[in-house]
Amino acid sequence: MDELVALAKRRGFIFQSSDIYGGLQGVYDYGPLGVELKNNLKAAWWRAMVYERDDVEGLDAAILTNPLTLRYSGHEATFTDPLVDCRQCKSRWRADHLEKPQCPSCGSTDLTDPRPFNLMFKTQVGPVEDSANFAYLRPETAQAIFTNFKNVADSTSPKLPFGIAQIGKAFRNEITPRNFIFRVREFEQMELEFFVEPGEDETWHDTWVAERLKWWGEQGVNENNLELYHVPADELAHYSKATVDVMYRFPHGLEELEGIANRTDFDLGSHTKNQADLNISARVEPNADSNARLALQNTESKEWRVPYVIEPSAGVDRGVLAVMNEAYNVETLENGSERTVMSFKPHLSPIKVAVLPLKRNHEGIVDKARGIKQDLQKLGLGRILYEDTGNIGKGYRRHDEVGTPLCVTVDFQTIEEDDTVTVRDRDSMDQTRIAVADLADYVKEQIAG
Ligand code: GAP
Repeated sequence: MDELVALAKRRGFIFQSSDIYGGLQGVYDYGPLGVELKNNLKAAWWRAMVYERDDVEGLDAAILTNPLTLRYSGHEATFTDPLVDCRQCKSRWRADHLEKPQCPSCGSTDLTDPRPFNLMFKTQVGPVEDSANFAYLRPETAQAIFTNFKNVADSTSPKLPFGIAQIGKAFRNEITPRNFIFRVREFEQMELEFFVEPGEDETWHDTWVAERLKWWGEQGVNENNLELYHVPADELAHYSKATVDVMYRFPHGLEELEGIANRTDFDLGSHTKNQADLNISARVEPNADSNARLALQNTESKEWRVPYVIEPSAGVDRGVLAVMNEAYNVETLENGSERTVMSFKPHLSPIKVAVLPLKRNHEGIVDKARGIKQDLQKLGLGRILYEDTGNIGKGYRRHDEVGTPLCVTVDFQTIEEDDTVTVRDRDSMDQTRIAVADLADYVKEQIAG
C-alpha cells in the first residue's frame, strides 16, 4: 500500500485533498493521471452496462436529496455504524472494527458503550438557517434511481426486466476513514438497479454476480484475488433479502469491492403512495408524503405490480485501488536493474500513446512528432501525449511507471529516410519500426483490441 500511495502521489494519480492545509481526513483528489484512469474505469462500466445492452437506461441525478427520500428509504432510521468513545484520549472508533474492547490509540479499555451514529451528511438549503431547511448529501446513488423510476418508465416505456444505471458521488461520514481511497467520506459509486418480475429475482441475482465477476476480470483483476462473500442474514442491510459481496485482496486485506443485493420491492414499495392494493412483500412504512405509484401495470392482466430489484453496486475509488494494485509490478531486468511498470489494460491506461521527439529542439522532428500526436488524438482512443523531454530512455521508464502501453519515437530516420517511427511496447519492451502510414491502424489494434 505504501508503495502504491507514493507512486500515486509522485506520478499525479491521487493526492490528499486540501493537502497544503494539512488535508481533510477521508477525502482525496484525483490528479492528471488519476482523473484519466478513473474516467476510463467509469467509461468501461457504462459501456458494459448501458451501451452493450438494450435493457438499461442511464441517469445522472442530483446529490442533494430531499430528507423524505431518505426517511422512507430507511436511511434516517438505520444507516448507522456503532460508535464508541475512548474516555481516556477522547478518540472515536467503530465498535465493529475493534479486535478487542481497547482503544487502538492509547490502549485504554475505558470505552463507552456503542451507540448508533448516522453516517449521512446534512447541509443547509437556502439562506435561512433553520432546522427544517436541510438536505442530505446522498449516501448512495440508488435512491434517486428509485425516486425517478416513474419518470424513466414513462419516458422510455420499458418492459421487465430492465435497468437504470448511474455513476456519481456518494457521501458517508465514516467514523474511521482509512486505507487510502478504500474507506473515504466522499466517493463515487457505479450502481445498476435492475428491475425484474418477482419470482425471477433469485435467478437474476445469480446472473448479475457472474456478470460482475467477468467484468472485473476484463479490467485486469485476477480472479484469484476475488472471492464471493454470501452476507449472513444478521449482517444484511435493512433493504436486502440476500447480498453477495465481491471481495478483493486489497493491499491491506480481503475486503468488499462491490455489493450485489436483492433489494426486493422494498425501495419502490417504500416510496409509493397507496401501497395497500399492491401486494408489496417487503415490510414498508405507510407513505403519506409521496405522490407516485412506483409500479408497472401488466398490459394483459391489468394488474399492478411493484418489480423486484437486483443491485450491483461498485465503488469507483475501490475499483481504482484494485486496478492499480493489480497493475503494479516491479521487475528485475536482465542487466540487474529494476523497472516499475503499471500493466494496466490498455483501455484503462491514463495515457494511451506518448509521442517522443528524439531531439526537442530540432524543428523537423518536433513538427513531425506534433503532427503524429494530433493524428492519433483524432482516433478518439483517449489521451495521446506529446512529450519533448529529450531523453528517450527516461521517457520510456516514466511511461512504464504510469502504464502507457505504447511510446512512439520520431527520429532522423523518420524525417530524412523512410517516414517510419519506433514503437516501443510497455510490456515486452520490444521496439518495432512502423511506417507512419500504418501507425493509426497499429495503435487502434493495440489499444482498442
Ligand atoms: N446502494 C448500495 C450500497 O450503497 P454499499 O455496500 O454500502 O451498498 C456499495 O456500497 C459500494 O460502494 C461498496 O461495495 C464500496 O465499493 C463502495 N463504498 C461504500 N462505502 C464506501 C466508502 N466509505 N469509501 C469508498 N467506497 C465505499
